[in-house]
Amino acid sequence: MLDLLITNANLPDGRKGQSIAVSAEKITEVAPSIKAEAEQTIDAAGMLVSPPFVDAHFHMDATLSYGMPRVNESGTLLEGIALWGELKPHLTQEALVERALAYCDWAVAKGLLAIRSHVDICDPRLLAVEALLHVKAKVKPYLDLQLVAFPQDGVLRSPGALENLTRSLDLGVDVVGGIPHFERTMADGAASVKLLMALASERGLPVDMHCDETDDPMSRHIETLTFETQRLGMQGRVTGSHLTSMHSMDNYYVSKLIPLMAEARMNVVANPLINITIQGRHDTYPKRRGMTRVPELMQAGVNVAFGHDCVMDPWYSLGTGDMLEVAHMGLHVAQMTSQAQMKACFDAVTENPANILGLQGYGIAPGCNADLVLLQATDPIEALRTRATRLAVIRRGRVIVQTPPTTAKLALAGRPETVDWRMK
Ligand code: FE2
Repeated sequence: MLDLLITNANLPDGRKGQSIAVSAEKITEVAPSIKAEAEQTIDAAGMLVSPPFVDAHFHMDATLSYGMPRVNESGTLLEGIALWGELKPHLTQEALVERALAYCDWAVAKGLLAIRSHVDICDPRLLAVEALLHVKAKVKPYLDLQLVAFPQDGVLRSPGALENLTRSLDLGVDVVGGIPHFERTMADGAASVKLLMALASERGLPVDMHCDETDDPMSRHIETLTFETQRLGMQGRVTGSHLTSMHSMDNYYVSKLIPLMAEARMNVVANPLINITIQGRHDTYPKRRGMTRVPELMQAGVNVAFGHDCVMDPWYSLGTGDMLEVAHMGLHVAQMTSQAQMKACFDAVTENPANILGLQGYGIAPGCNADLVLLQATDPIEALRTRATRLAVIRRGRVIVQTPPTTAKLALAGRPETVDWRMK
């Protein structure tokens, strides 16, 4: 007797009419038509069943703090950082935990079951670190939360930051973070990369830096990050987040840089909702888009994910934890409109970030965890177009979220009674 049997499902790789059998929290079989007894059967009715959405870049310590103590008037990264600095002394662990848990509810309801969150360690109390370690343990049954020790004010620029960072790693934070472009000089930025990479290498930890989140084409810390990755033998374990300066870099320089990044097996996270609102703020017209060179990096074989980065915080006033909205924006900003590119945008919020987080047992194949999302769409491109309703979210074989299908009733003479925005 199976625990769960899903029938007549379309899969992201294009297979149609598939059954998925689940026992003891794992997928045991994926085949065109499985006939077996099961505790629960779900007829997917030709809809898409996907592995869960994954967000490789988020700030859970700041989320849902919009308006506290005021909103970001200029919309710039620097005002956001200043605003966060004003809010920090007033944070309490209890309120931070409450906001983070509320965001996790939103995320799970959108089929987002794994998040890598940066946590600001520039606070000798390590209040946010302790709060998010608590949240990580609390949400573990339904959401994988990975934490990055993030020196928001610069590991060299902010007094005591290195000590706070190592203390937070000792407490169990999973990944080493950084922010080289916020250090006082280019030289200090490069020195911070070398220092943090050495620390991560010593401890055997992955690295994920906010890197070159600026419109300055001369911000080239990704070059140092790539070089150190190669030198220390950390290929595949290092992520450059944002990399927005690459948008504005000289094409000749980039033609050297991207192959070096591919050689060092760098991971890249672009954050389209944030990059399109924060970058280009000093431009008049034409205004730069600011997002890094996503299709060119993918073309070169670099693993690229789209992250959400922010939801209702000092940097971004919108968002719901919907990774389809993130991918939809990424698709538009990068002009990734071919069929293959749109499919790649869906992968950028599922498989690609799962690789960055190093999630074990991710995917739809025998032996994988039975973590699945049933979408109100027949394929990944339709899911992106409609930001499809998550009809069911399944964690370890158990349905943890259900949402009614989205449909509208029409009262128009001679026209159908309902629409659901899907091509028939
Ligand atoms: Fe970020």
